[in-house]
Amino acid sequence: MEIVSTQINHAQNGLIIKMPLGSSLVKLNKTFIEDKDRFIDVNIEDIPIMYCEDGSICCIPKEEEVFSLAIVGASGFGKSLALNRIHSHLFYQWKTNVCLMNDISEESFKWSEPMKFRAFKEFNRLYLNQEPCPSPIVYVYPNTNTLDLDLDFLRDKNYIKTVMPFADIIEDIGFYLSGINPEFDVGKSGMYINDLKDSLSECDTAMQVREILTEELPGREGKNFRAMRIKILTAFDSLFKEEILDITNPECHAYIRLNNAPLKNPFITLMKAGVIPSFITSDLSTKKYKSQIFACHINSIFQNHNKEFPGEKTFLLFDELRTVCETDNDPAAKAIGQVAARGRIMNVGLVYATQFYDKIPNCVKGPKLNYLMAFNHNNSKILNEIGSDFDLNKRVKERIKKLKKYECFAMTKNKFIFYRDGERWEDSQPVKGRIFYPVANHQTVGKK
Ligand SMILES: Nc1ncnc2c1ncn2[C@@H]1O[C@H](COP(=O)(O)OP(=O)(O)O)[C@@H](O)[C@H]1O
Ligand SMILES: [Mg+2]
Repeated sequence: MEIVSTQINHAQNGLIIKMPLGSSLVKLNKTFIEDKDRFIDVNIEDIPIMYCEDGSICCIPKEEEVFSLAIVGASGFGKSLALNRIHSHLFYQWKTNVCLMNDISEESFKWSEPMKFRAFKEFNRLYLNQEPCPSPIVYVYPNTNTLDLDLDFLRDKNYIKTVMPFADIIEDIGFYLSGINPEFDVGKSGMYINDLKDSLSECDTAMQVREILTEELPGREGKNFRAMRIKILTAFDSLFKEEILDITNPECHAYIRLNNAPLKNPFITLMKAGVIPSFITSDLSTKKYKSQIFACHINSIFQNHNKEFPGEKTFLLFDELRTVCETDNDPAAKAIGQVAARGRIMNVGLVYATQFYDKIPNCVKGPKLNYLMAFNHNNSKILNEIGSDFDLNKRVKERIKKLKKYECFAMTKNKFIFYRDGERWEDSQPVKGRIFYPVANHQTVGKK
């Protein structure tokens, strides 16, 4: 699969932010005061996340290093909206690579269009003089035997189907087979497959793989090794039936190519093409082996980052993180843990949203976070955990329980930047505000 050009027009000037000259002026009727008298062009490099109770604009500071941010809260209060807003700023304002690594509810389907909802547009316009702006998104579908694409809907979208590279999978076959079914954990007998690695990795079809296995595995005759042989053959058959490999689906290639450059992981290639990949995982999330597939892509982006994107920064964004890693030890948790632990050195940042701060792996929270945005939450276990991670007092925890839709408490171990009436200052205290809405459109949950 080859990308020659990306058919997407990037918004010309990115996001222009204008600061209200006086917080009381912005609300005046437009017939009394023109925009030029109401806003000043300040070069805000920081990312405005919310409008605070005191009329100031709270921002994540632009710094040399990437950051890690968690967006936490009960369902329906604005986590995904905040993620949507932040992705546009990273992409347009900071010009980093952005990769949406888990869209389980297909909410990013609309992010390739400018925000249409009037109330959201007006709020952003009023306080930042900021206009709607679509994102150049390419939807990435992991192929499986149950993937059902709504081709009508996708007609005017950019998308690709991906599979996993068999030659790479064979390198770590035990890992994938046990993902298909824990019973296929081939354990020590994996060494028989390892002996065949070289010839297996050259196969182009599932048929060829079966031939090699049938020929070469011990246990063809007699009772010795017979059970092991059957187990391996069955495990491979099951793996092929999932249709997640390039040799089981010749129409879709594991790697894509950009302008004749060598073949690369699809996420890397798409980011190099200047677009934002969005991994649509509604189908994948029902599979036992999802963690392996997430891990494979995350590791590939992370390990190749500085070679593929020298001097650049990349942010990996995950909505509903709990659906990516369910335990501390699953492969995806380890992969994301690497990003959380070493991302700053590798220039890979991490932004995720979750309803279940108490249940996500320890390796991505607490000391690993620079910022946290807490939306309404009533779960005391979660509030206590956030409270101890960010040194919150009892009063703030109580106030988080009472937050309304779109309101949040932002907290940091670093600092926030504030703007008001032409002034700029820094502060590190937890602060309450109302989020700025996304500039890219947003899927209202449950609707296409
Ligand atoms: N495009 C939109 N237009 C209007 N309202 C929206 C839109 N997208 C989301 N919303 C509303 O914003 C609220 C917060 O949504 P969301 O950020 O998806 O919540 P969550 O915290 O569950 O991720 C929802 O109640 C939803 O109705
Ligand atoms: Mg959400």
